[in-house]
Amino acid sequence: MNNKIVLIILLLAAAGMQAQYKYDNRYESKIDSIIKLMTLEEKAGQLNQLAYGWGWGPTVKSEVKGDYAKMVAEGKIGSFLNAVGADLTRDLQKVAMEKSRLHIPLIFGFDVIHGFKTTFPVPLAEVASWDPAIVEYSAKMQAKEAAATGIHWTFAPMVDIARDSRWGRIVEGAGEDTYLGSIMAAARVKGFQGTLGNENIAACVKHFAAYGAAEGGRDYNTVDISERVLRETYLPPFKAALDAGALTFMCSFNEIAGVPSSGSKFLLSDVLRNEWQFKGFVVSDWNSPGEMINHGFAADLKDAARISITAGLDMDMESRAYTAYLKELVEKKQVPVADVDESVRRVLRVKFILGLFDDPYKYCSKEREQNFVMSKEMQDAALKVAEQSIVLLKNNGVLPLKDAYKKIAVVGPCANAKKIPLGSWEQYGDSNDVVTVLEGIKKTYPKADVTFVQAVTITDTTKAGFDEAVQAAKDAELVIAVVGEDGHMSGEASCRASIDLPGVQNELVEALQKTGKPLVVVLMNGRALALGAIDKNADAVVEAWFPGITCGTAITNVLTGKINPSARLPITFPKVTGQIPSHYNHKNTGRPNDPNNHYTSGYLDTDINPLYPFGYGLSYTAFKYGTVKLSKQSIKATDKITVTVPVSNTGKLEGTETVQLYLRDMVGSVTRPVKELKRFVKVNLKPGESKDVQFTINEEDLKFWDINMHFSSEPGEFRVMVGGNSRDVQQETFTLE
Ligand code: NOJ
Repeated sequence: MNNKIVLIILLLAAAGMQAQYKYDNRYESKIDSIIKLMTLEEKAGQLNQLAYGWGWGPTVKSEVKGDYAKMVAEGKIGSFLNAVGADLTRDLQKVAMEKSRLHIPLIFGFDVIHGFKTTFPVPLAEVASWDPAIVEYSAKMQAKEAAATGIHWTFAPMVDIARDSRWGRIVEGAGEDTYLGSIMAAARVKGFQGTLGNENIAACVKHFAAYGAAEGGRDYNTVDISERVLRETYLPPFKAALDAGALTFMCSFNEIAGVPSSGSKFLLSDVLRNEWQFKGFVVSDWNSPGEMINHGFAADLKDAARISITAGLDMDMESRAYTAYLKELVEKKQVPVADVDESVRRVLRVKFILGLFDDPYKYCSKEREQNFVMSKEMQDAALKVAEQSIVLLKNNGVLPLKDAYKKIAVVGPCANAKKIPLGSWEQYGDSNDVVTVLEGIKKTYPKADVTFVQAVTITDTTKAGFDEAVQAAKDAELVIAVVGEDGHMSGEASCRASIDLPGVQNELVEALQKTGKPLVVVLMNGRALALGAIDKNADAVVEAWFPGITCGTAITNVLTGKINPSARLPITFPKVTGQIPSHYNHKNTGRPNDPNNHYTSGYLDTDINPLYPFGYGLSYTAFKYGTVKLSKQSIKATDKITVTVPVSNTGKLEGTETVQLYLRDMVGSVTRPVKELKRFVKVNLKPGESKDVQFTINEEDLKFWDINMHFSSEPGEFRVMVGGNSRDVQQETFTLE
């Protein structure tokens, strides 16, 4: 046992246990005095956020648009989104500080989703690292760059659990699992907010709530889920982000069971303000109060303003409902002034916490802007994160690549694409800064003859370019096909009815396979794809997602083995679109699938198993699991139970395994999922090395929203499952007395 190290995974590491930003009463009397001085128009103005438009850039002259300057001077705007740049934000802030009656600073928000100018891998990719430290680091660096351009506040992290890859916004979140999503939500908040200094920005947890449960995977669509599903599956990442200190929330566009989030007293007041004791503010999504008219929940914009403010929606992004109607609604006693004051208090509180009253210009530093934006430090950080995000899905031995090749064919629409790797929220990212896979391969193999054939575009239906690609493959020793989706085929309003590889890319890969040459397929995409044909035809499959500006370098480093891949899937990859929903933590049903019994839950035209399960990913080395041992077979609610499993590196290279622990409550007052992730840890092992991995479980891990609508644990049998992904697990049982 000498060479074995025991790793104790402390429960405290779990999301939800992080220290929340410590609110105290230090600002409250100042806020009281400001509110006393404010007119109703100024209060409504404080709750009004408008979009400035795009203006940042070295060649764009900083200016303050006339109307906006006038409105700021009149106290009619409390916040801008999309006003960026040290000069521009300083100019705007100056108007607020010098020309407005009460000198209340503006707060500038922006969507820093995976970077500002230095584009990092998309959020789903980062989460594939299964490494909260990397995810926190990424958010920290993104915040540092954004804060240098005058931004105070990012509309991130998106923590929406998404079980349907047709939904384009799955790319912005942490995938399908609530526990993994909660850990990553907390990591991102900590990364963005740090110590709330001038290199940090406020986080905005979105979209509250259950936006990812849109029917049919269609964006903005209706959500109808039970309170149990809401509480168990969709809300925990928000709570974890709040516990990590998130200062703001954004409500979602969707309705839940007939009530749009922008007007949901249950979500915004009962849960968020009262149950969770949230002290920051909630911003609407773009015009989401106004959209309640289309929902059929508000008669007109005035009605929308009344519904939203009384529900607890503090700031109005772009529907202009509050500035138009709050004064009248209060004067006519249709809205209590106390509701308006409470929202103003929350907005002012966050401005105080960010230090904007002390130094309204603390983020407007030309020097930091010049030093940090696209600095080497940023680009190195983006590379580090990208390398940890790439998942190896198949490898029959062709990877890692050899040290030398004479002739390599690089094929496909993503192979030399400059824009695609930037993904869906590229913001000020510049495609000229992107290193493509072709460039990465050429740099790594300077002596090789590297032929590039694009062959098709992403959505082409013609095979006219196939012949040239096949000829290049025939002439080469190695074929690298880089295929996938366009960067904007996922993200907002970018849903797909089919999650197959678009166009004729499957056919292209098949044609390349027929040459008999070693074939590596690299994928760029923002969701799970149905990859049956690729898995069948390729010798190796590498999921690179949208890796950001360092794309080609990160991918080449993984292909050559400079980086031994250790990322894992944060979403299930089904075999076909029709298997959706295919999340691993489904219920068992009364007739669990049995391929030999027709009258069980299944399909006539496919089996129910995914192609690649949640948590799956390979390494260039091999790991072996010893027998799982539990410290006790039976526990009381106050006890802890320790789960120990020896893990060995039986391959030839140093590598990192992601050890995962799942639980199942066998019988409950309500039915429970077949398995739920409860712990994971990444373990680095040298060849021949072995470590005992140890997890501690306690009663909190056994709780669920029971038949009486409380979180509680129930006595009975629990199954513990441990393995390297959600499918390949060993199991043991224990009893809760
Ligand atoms: C709409 C999107 O839903 C939201 O995520 C984003 O933060 C806002 N637009 C602002 O750009």
